[in-house]
Amino acid sequence: MGENPLPADGGRRLVGTRRLLVAGALGVLGTATALAASVPAGAAAGTLGAAAAQSGRYYGAAIAAGHMNDSTYVATWDREFNAVTPENEMKWDATEPSRGSFRFTSADQIVSHAQSKGMKIRGHTLVWHNQLPSWVGGLSASDLRSAMTNHINNVMGHYKGKIYAWDVVNEAFADGGAVGTLRSSVFTQKLGNGFIEEAFRAARAADPNAKLCYNDYNIDDANANKTRGVYNMIKDFKARGVPIDCVGLQSHLSSGSVPSNYQQNIAQFAALGVDVQITELDIGGSGSAQADAYRRVTQACTAVPRCTGITVWGITDKYSWRSGDTPLLFDGNFNKKQAYTAVLDALNAATPNTSPSPTTSPNTSPSPTTSPNTSPSPNTSPSPTPPVGGACSATIETTNSWPGGFQSTVTVRAGSSAVNGWTVKWTWPSGQSISSLWNGTQSGSGSSVTVSNAPYNGSIAAGSSTTFGFTANGSAATPTATCTSP
Ligand code: XIL
Repeated sequence: MGENPLPADGGRRLVGTRRLLVAGALGVLGTATALAASVPAGAAAGTLGAAAAQSGRYYGAAIAAGHMNDSTYVATWDREFNAVTPENEMKWDATEPSRGSFRFTSADQIVSHAQSKGMKIRGHTLVWHNQLPSWVGGLSASDLRSAMTNHINNVMGHYKGKIYAWDVVNEAFADGGAVGTLRSSVFTQKLGNGFIEEAFRAARAADPNAKLCYNDYNIDDANANKTRGVYNMIKDFKARGVPIDCVGLQSHLSSGSVPSNYQQNIAQFAALGVDVQITELDIGGSGSAQADAYRRVTQACTAVPRCTGITVWGITDKYSWRSGDTPLLFDGNFNKKQAYTAVLDALNAATPNTSPSPTTSPNTSPSPTTSPNTSPSPNTSPSPTPPVGGACSATIETTNSWPGGFQSTVTVRAGSSAVNGWTVKWTWPSGQSISSLWNGTQSGSGSSVTVSNAPYNGSIAAGSSTTFGFTANGSAATPTATCTSP
C-alpha cells in the first residue's frame, strides 16, 4: 500500500476532514493474569482480556476520562479489557498546558481505575507534533531541548512504576518521500532529527522500568517506505545502544486495507529485538468483511511471540474518533459486533506464547499463513505464558501461599540460542512485594520488579532453563514476566 489510508496526523481539529478521506485509517495491549486464572483448563475464555491472557498477551482499549460517567462504558471496559491507553489525557496539551505547570487530573482518573482492576497501562504520548500546546512552538532550540526533557521527566515521573509501556515519540516519520524522511515539525526544525534519540534517552532515565515504544500509523505494510524508515531507525538504535523496547503499530485500518504482509511486518520488527504492540487498532467497515479484517490482524499478532498485545482505539462506535466508519468491536449500544466474535475466537485459538522470538530476516517472502491453530485454548494454570523478550522467556508459578504471603518459582528459559546473563521483569497487580529472593539479584523496589541472574546462573544453554525463587507479601499473583538477555 504506498498510500496512507490514515488520518495523517490525529490532530483533534483535523479529524472531521480527514475521516472522509480515510479509505482505511487503521493498533493494541493488556494484563491478563487475574482473568486468565479464572478460565478453566481447556475452556475458551469469554472475554477479550482473558482470551488474550491465555497466550500471555493483553487486550486493551483507549479510554476517555470524559466518558467514565457512562456506566455501560465502564462496565464494558472492566469486563472485556485488561489494559488501557488514555485516549487524550496524557498528551502534552493535557499534561503541560503552560510551561512548567503540570496537570494530571483526567489521566489520574483513568490510571487509578485501571490500577484498581490490575490492568496494564500504556502511556500515550510524550513527544508528538499534534496536541502540542502553542507555547512549545515559540521556544528557542535550547529552550525546546530542556522543555522536552522536563516534560518527559515530569510526566513519566508522575506515573513512575505504573506504566507498562510509553509511546515516547509518536508519528515522527513523514508519509511521503524517501525511506527515513521525518515529518517536518518544531522538533526537527529546532533540534534536528536527533530529537527522537534524545527523547528515548531521557525517557529511559525517567522510568527505567517502563518499556519505551516508537509509535506510528501507516507502518503496517512490511515494504512501505515509511515502515522501512522506522525499521532502519530501530535497527540503528539497537546497534548503537539507544534505548528502545517496542514499536507500536497504530493500525488505523479499513476492512480492505489490512496489508497482506501484516504478519510478516510484525515479525520483521520483532526480529530486531523489540516487542511489537498493536496500539490503536480500529478497522472501518461492517459485518463479515470487518470481522475478517479483525481476525487477520489478531492472528498476525498471536503468530509472533514478541507481539505482546493489542489495544483497540475505543470501545464503542458511538465514541470513536472515526465513528462514521464504525471501526470498533462494540456498536453504539455496546452490543458485540461480528468483529468482536472473530477477535475472541482468534485469541482463544492462539498457541501459548513460549517460543523464542523469531529471527526472520526483514521483509522477503509473502507472509506465512496466519495461525492455523484451531485447537481449544491452552490450559492457563499456573500463569499465562509470558511474551518472549530477547532470547529468553520467564514464567512465574505460585508454589505456596498463606494469609498475607506467598512463595513463587520463576523459570527462566533460553530460546534457540544460549543465554549469557538474563534479566526478568514484572509488575505486581497490586500491593505485592518481595520479602526474600534466592538464585537471583533484585534491583529497585516498588510495584515494578527487576531480577537479574546471580553470579553463578547467568549462562543457560539453548533450550534449557534455570529457576529463581522468592517469598512475597500480599496475595498470590502470577503476573506476566518478560525476560531479556544482553
Ligand atoms: C485521537 C483521539 O482519538 C481523538 O479523540 C483526538 O481528537 C485526536 O487524537 N494517532 C494517535 C492518537 O496517536 O493519539 C490519535 O487519537 C489518533 C491518531
